[in-house]
Amino acid sequence: MKFLITGGAGFIGSHLADALLARGDAVVALDDLSTGSTENIERARGHASFEFCEGCVTDGALVGRLASECDAILHMAAAVGVRRVIAATSASMDVNLRGTQTVLQTADRLAKPVVLASSSEVYGKGHRIPFAEDDDVLLGATCSPRWSYAGAKAVGEWLALSLAREHGVRVLCMRLFNTVGPRQTGRYGMVLPTFVRQAIRDEPLTVYGDGAQARCFGHVRDVVACALRLFESDKAWGTVVNVGSDLEITIDALARLVRERCASSSEIEHVDYASVSEISIDEPLRRVPDLSRLRACIGDVPTTPIEHIVDDVIARVRTGVETA
Ligand SMILES: NC(=O)c1ccc[n+]([C@@H]2O[C@H](COP(=O)([O-])OP(=O)(O)OC[C@H]3O[C@@H](n4cnc5c(N)ncnc54)[C@H](O)[C@@H]3O)[C@@H](O)[C@H]2O)c1
Repeated sequence: MKFLITGGAGFIGSHLADALLARGDAVVALDDLSTGSTENIERARGHASFEFCEGCVTDGALVGRLASECDAILHMAAAVGVRRVIAATSASMDVNLRGTQTVLQTADRLAKPVVLASSSEVYGKGHRIPFAEDDDVLLGATCSPRWSYAGAKAVGEWLALSLAREHGVRVLCMRLFNTVGPRQTGRYGMVLPTFVRQAIRDEPLTVYGDGAQARCFGHVRDVVACALRLFESDKAWGTVVNVGSDLEITIDALARLVRERCASSSEIEHVDYASVSEISIDEPLRRVPDLSRLRACIGDVPTTPIEHIVDDVIARVRTGVETA
């Protein structure tokens, strides 16, 4: 098959491209290189079945032309990272809303299946742990730009599911939980690459609040494997599916683990939420996925232990050499 990957030079998109190329599929990657990089697609570019197109996902004519040559669309392009979304809220919402609408309308017009990368952010400040796909969502107030990303992702899901119901478009919404691994940049506030860089330089590891907030980190390799198996599963189309790991770790414990695996002498510094403008005290304490639907669709869910994930990220940051 030939896949159009929007955001194909990004962290997850480039790993998806590598996995598809490795199994013999062809890939067209569309990316504006805003947070992605040509470095991410270095390996893919050596492949005869890979094409890269620099352009914007809101460009309907371009998306239409590329999609018409492909069998399916994997829509990964988005303006991501709390820091970036808060600094340029209207621009990021434009990409996240209009980009998704462009992709979905193209899929509808050309009758192509489409996989959307949604986010666990959609659950917002939900209290019921673990988060199941049909739970109510509890987003923060619209005066807080932090929630605009979650709002745009939720609207994207609504749009996708309504096109599936009304026009029979084959859509699959993956609600991705924290995905980490080689190639993820720490530039936009992502916690693991930030800790690893700080630990390698023996700088203080900055933990927001008391560090008791917990997250589940999935290796990008596992997330890509789940995405490809979901694509093959008849049960997943027309639904929303949580994708990620359900192994929880507090941010404080993650900082200690990174320091230990790096053999670093860094201090762990707790920074008051109030002093960091881009982080809100709205930050949910826990975010754990219910993976029952994912398991029902694909069977066993690969879950790399956090120690191995941390080691992979350290190796990548230390050497700049691809490890996954
Ligand atoms: N990494 C995570 O933990 C996580 C969690 C939940 C959801 N997601 C979603 O997964 C997808 C991929 O995220 P990622 O972590 O790989 O981030 P990323 O920033 O590495 O990937 C996004 C890619 O989209 C590209 N892009 C942005 N705006 C574009 C535009 N207007 N036109 C074309 N390309 C554009 C960027 O250059 C980048 O390459 C996103 O939709 C994101 O919302 C990621």
